[in-house]
Amino acid sequence: MDFKQIVSHCKEYGFVYQSSEVYDGLAAVYDYGPNGVLLKNNIKEYWWKSMVQMHQNIVGIDSAIFMHPKIWKASGHVDAFNDPLVDNKDSNKRYRADQLIEGYADKIEAKIKKDVEKARKKFGDAFDEKQFRETNGRIIDRQAKIDDALGRMNKALADDNMEALKSLIEELEIACPVSGTKNWTDVRQFNLMFSTQLGNIAGEDGKLYLRPETAQGIFVNFLNVQKTSRQKIPFGIAQIGKAFRNEIVARQFIFRMREFEQMEMQFFVRPGEEMKWYQYWKDTRMKWHQAIGTPASKLRYHDHENLAHYANAALDIEFEFPFGFKELEGIHSRTDFDLGSHQELSGRKLQYFDPELNENYVPYVVETSIGCDRMFLAQVSHNLVQEEVPDAEGKSSTRVVMKFHPSLAPIKCAVLPLVKNHEGLVKASKDIFDELKFETSVQYDEKDAIGRRYRRQDAVGTPYCVTIDHQTLEDQTVTLRERDSLNQIRIPVDQVSAEVLKKTNMNNLLKEVV
Ligand code: GAP
Repeated sequence: MDFKQIVSHCKEYGFVYQSSEVYDGLAAVYDYGPNGVLLKNNIKEYWWKSMVQMHQNIVGIDSAIFMHPKIWKASGHVDAFNDPLVDNKDSNKRYRADQLIEGYADKIEAKIKKDVEKARKKFGDAFDEKQFRETNGRIIDRQAKIDDALGRMNKALADDNMEALKSLIEELEIACPVSGTKNWTDVRQFNLMFSTQLGNIAGEDGKLYLRPETAQGIFVNFLNVQKTSRQKIPFGIAQIGKAFRNEIVARQFIFRMREFEQMEMQFFVRPGEEMKWYQYWKDTRMKWHQAIGTPASKLRYHDHENLAHYANAALDIEFEFPFGFKELEGIHSRTDFDLGSHQELSGRKLQYFDPELNENYVPYVVETSIGCDRMFLAQVSHNLVQEEVPDAEGKSSTRVVMKFHPSLAPIKCAVLPLVKNHEGLVKASKDIFDELKFETSVQYDEKDAIGRRYRRQDAVGTPYCVTIDHQTLEDQTVTLRERDSLNQIRIPVDQVSAEVLKKTNMNNLLKEVV
């Protein structure tokens, strides 16, 4: 399905709505509907349980969104959490300079891909893509253009050289997609933090920031948590919570939002052991993504060329969204930068006494950080498919189905009486519903023909439908329909719950990731 279809499906089936839609919406802010909130909660549960419940040495916290403003000075966000911004003077549209240059590279990459696909068709099974890319003259030239543009962009970003970024945009003859002109302002840095004001303190002193990452709430609670949970290094602190960034370019639905949710874990280690743990979390997090059925071909690592101000190694786990491979999760070796800076600015010791080494030190940190909304978008865009299936008469028909992993599906089972105005069927169905609701997320639906109800459940990804018919009243059996195979089996009513839980229970999934 293309991206537009995914976005409209999300709205039509109660997953995601534009925020404040009745007032024409608020850019880059979204609300989650009845199915969306269930999916999001399941994603969070999967993350939380695999991190906290499955690890004796990881504990959770829930820190406040507002924090002392000095925290953002110490963390470097006041001085360095910037994006390079440029305006087109004719359209008055604002862009991120780096994204304009990346867009230029994406266009060339699309041309390369076209050539590769053409050659693949021509040469069939004998085609070797790597060799073709390395030997075809036109592709080599195009790849060189990409490498040169991105290389120069990365250098300009690393040197904080805004003039060089502007020159590059001009040299590459990048035009504004709206006005079509190349009439650009200078490139300047724009801080992404939202600020607000404390009620009882006027001016700069009362200035507060909405947190742009949840991680700092973990750092400043490091000693509280270590002491009260009696953890020994290495140990981790996990948190799920809202973060806010005043993104310049609000695009791509819930991929880049101004208010979003992060699932972050800071893992505190001995200095010098950080690369071992960096590798451990790199592997572990990839396993987590693949365990829910995201194929390896849709995931890849991307090492950062431009390290953030706090990192000595960093990579992204990228997912192939409908608009290309993009960052889904970040894994960062943050050294002792954050704890060290907070120690310095607050004047309080943030050190750990290591009984094995008999010494105090500021621990090093390896962080895993994933956006819950991005994970949601990855799940929706990968699992929403349109396919041909046989209908009741065996003829081919089209269905739209969300093939979520059963543990993540918003509704695990739908209970459907074959007809709605039969007292016996309705009562038997409601009895089953009343039993299942204690076990899992279940929906009762009696409206419309049974085929349409199946399609409705397919569209939101319900793994099982239980249909109650006249035979149920005679022999206490029901039909259990499975979403993906479309198999229908007849089972006794008292086995429904066990059968549904066998496949939808998150425990099975968790066993795959530990
Ligand atoms: N504490 C580290 C940190 O915040 P980041 O790479 O800036 O690192 C981590 O963000 C993750 O948060 C990203 O991989 C992405 O999934 C998510 N994220 C970042 N900005 C976002 C935005 N504007 N909208 C939605 N998700 C975002």
